[in-house]
Amino acid sequence: MHTTQVTEGIYRLSANAQDMLFEGIWPIPNGVSMNSYIVKGEKIAIIDGVCGWDGVPETLYAQFDSMGLDINDIDYVIVNHLEPDHSGWLETFKTMRSEFQIITSEKGKPLLEAFYGITENIRTVKTGDSVDLGDGRVLAFAEIPNVHWPETMATFDTKSGTLFPCDAFGSFGKIGDAPYDDQLTDEDLAFFEKEAVRYYSNIVAAFCLPVQKAIQAVESLPVKIIAPGHGLVWRKNPKKIIDDYKRYASYSKGPAKAEVTFIWGSMYGNTQQGVEPVIKALEEEGVKVHVHQVPESPLGDILASIWNSTGVVLGMPTYEYKMFPPMYMVLDELGKKRVLNRKAFRFGSYGWSGGAQKELETLNAHLKMHWDFLEPHEFKGRPTDTDIDILVDRARQLARDVKEMVANAPALD
Ligand SMILES: Cc1cc2nc3c(=O)[nH]c(=O)nc-3n(C[C@H](O)[C@H](O)[C@H](O)COP(=O)(O)O)c2cc1C
Ligand SMILES: [Fe+2]
Ligand SMILES: [Fe+2]
Repeated sequence: MHTTQVTEGIYRLSANAQDMLFEGIWPIPNGVSMNSYIVKGEKIAIIDGVCGWDGVPETLYAQFDSMGLDINDIDYVIVNHLEPDHSGWLETFKTMRSEFQIITSEKGKPLLEAFYGITENIRTVKTGDSVDLGDGRVLAFAEIPNVHWPETMATFDTKSGTLFPCDAFGSFGKIGDAPYDDQLTDEDLAFFEKEAVRYYSNIVAAFCLPVQKAIQAVESLPVKIIAPGHGLVWRKNPKKIIDDYKRYASYSKGPAKAEVTFIWGSMYGNTQQGVEPVIKALEEEGVKVHVHQVPESPLGDILASIWNSTGVVLGMPTYEYKMFPPMYMVLDELGKKRVLNRKAFRFGSYGWSGGAQKELETLNAHLKMHWDFLEPHEFKGRPTDTDIDILVDRARQLARDVKEMVANAPALD
């Protein structure tokens, strides 16, 4: 890992994390980068930071060394967001350097005390405030609350048009020697787009309205470069990541793409007998199908594919008069992440009373998910040929409805 120049006077430093659960829940099979930025005027600021985990702050300090920067040269630490993946390094930094000023939002101040016991040398800023680094370099601040925590703000370098939006416009995926969109092939960009959807759906999904407000705020600025706290720096085409985030925010309420996420679980293989015929029927109608078995599939994978999907199929039996428990857990989280207005179909087996269907309907209403279900199909024990024919018909219907919804979706402005 080495330091790179974003533009004149601005440098990107970075550390990757992998083989861990992000936020203690989400697998990151392709890792994640945590980006920090040094901005040089007559004074020097560091924007965002890295986590405090084993050795990571030291990775950051080694990058200071490699660019000939003494730790004592830093005048301002700009904390856009207090989540420890960006602020965790402050703990060691303050033991090494006492004379620096932290700039954060009003709501960031109590969090600095709560997480790191820092109460001094803090300047709070609000939208419209700025700090002059000298040499024609002025950093302006804009609050973007709830992207991702209430205290989050973005920093804008008026000289170069570089926006530092922290979690907004970020993506998973570790980054090596090519952190800039202008260095990547279309294939690389497609990889990072997948990682951006995974990041958005796992981390930011519950905050689509704040994301939309943040995008509006950003669009009023003359942004030339987007330098987020995770993922690629957008130098060539910052509009791409803004437009992508607009799309991801809109996918909460749907419609999303002409894709179907099929989540199924089965104890003894009866519900499972419907799985292959349903997949085949969906695919024959020309929609892309993402299949996840519960409890085996990580929730993060399910969220990443359902975020892109307009349609959902649920296959699950009754278990103790309720839904198969791992399905309940998944649906509960999908509701909380605001996966709304999906076109859906559920089927499954039962033994004597059923009950899964009733609980599904109750959960859908309780979490206000507004999933629009086709008539469900349940069968006692194993499915007959007639049951399978019904599943196939419903799957075809679902696929056709999905395609129509996507075709009729209003364009985003
Ligand atoms: C632990 C357990 C609890 C069950 N609870 C119910 C129930 O409350 N009501 C019901 O109709 N069937 C119940 N069943 C029966 C299953 O729904 C039935 O065996 C079904 O065919 C299982 O489908 P599967 O093979 O896809 O897992 C239960 C089965 C098990 C193993
Ligand atoms: Fe965050
Ligand atoms: Fe973050």
